[in-house]
Amino acid sequence: MQDLDKMITDAGAAFQAAGDAASLANAKAQFLGKDGLLTAQLKLLGKLQGEEKSIAGKRLNEAKQAIERQLKAREQALEHEVLAARLASEALDVTLPGRGLGKGGLHPITLATERIEAIFASIGFDVADGPEIEEDFYNFTALNTPENHPARSMHDTFYVEGGHLLRTHTSPMQIRYARMNKPPIRVIAPGRTYRVDSDATHSPMFHQFEGLWIDRNISLTDLKNVYQDFINQFFERTDIEVRFRPSYFPFTEPSAEIDMRFPDGPLAGRWLEVSGSGQVHPNVVRNIGLDPEEYIGFAFGSGIERLAMLRYGVGDLRLFFDNDLRFLAQFNP
Ligand code: DAH
Repeated sequence: MQDLDKMITDAGAAFQAAGDAASLANAKAQFLGKDGLLTAQLKLLGKLQGEEKSIAGKRLNEAKQAIERQLKAREQALEHEVLAARLASEALDVTLPGRGLGKGGLHPITLATERIEAIFASIGFDVADGPEIEEDFYNFTALNTPENHPARSMHDTFYVEGGHLLRTHTSPMQIRYARMNKPPIRVIAPGRTYRVDSDATHSPMFHQFEGLWIDRNISLTDLKNVYQDFINQFFERTDIEVRFRPSYFPFTEPSAEIDMRFPDGPLAGRWLEVSGSGQVHPNVVRNIGLDPEEYIGFAFGSGIERLAMLRYGVGDLRLFFDNDLRFLAQFNP
């Protein structure tokens, strides 16, 4: 019994020395467990009698409470330590600036295409989409370019299995669309086109938009006005000259290249070719299923990269295909 004070002190020291829950449980067992030091003393109580027993019982009870108080205090202190350690290791500095998600944007060719579509839609043209893997018939034959026609060599064609090819121009959409719709027909068909060609000014994949207008009483003047108006709207100015220069395409007669010229800027005074065009050849009108004596058609096919380069001041075609974010980001402020 004399050792009870020492036991309390020892228990306090043992609890204090325990650095985690497991060692604290060990220390607890050492004093309060089944075979613990205090439990051993409590067992001895049975051997005492009367007043002696009640004094000893009281003292043992006080010692037990004192030890339990110390145990509880240490348990709480350990819990706090664990929590504090966890908070420290998981600490977030909420004042750090965020990384930001970075905003995506549309490719300049897509932006140019959307502008072209909006301009033609505003004057009543439909916008149509067609296959990039095309049949020889639509790409050439129906466009008055039968097999062995010398004009086929103008297009360095990618052929794919099964007699198909990658369309070399968007002109096959003239046939596809006109066969599915009744005149008057007004449509543009933008999309990807392919040729075996790759250098500083040619990409094996590029974009065109085809325009087709078929009606009863239209003339070349209508085509000229539509194209001039398109150029004015696309470049958002009215001082660009447009000229039609005689040329040759199998699917038009007569045929013309469309050139444009800026009055100022780095390209001032230079004629720039932007499109092929012409009056749809009577054979093509027939291939569509219409009578060339009754219907007249006008068509054009323009390169979108060229127009986008002129509109956005891009000096090198290859920039469109490099996927350099420093270039692309400039179109999406
Ligand atoms: N398809 C021609 C090319 O890729 C461009 C063209 C010329 C389209 C005259 C036309 C046209 O619709 O009438 O070179």
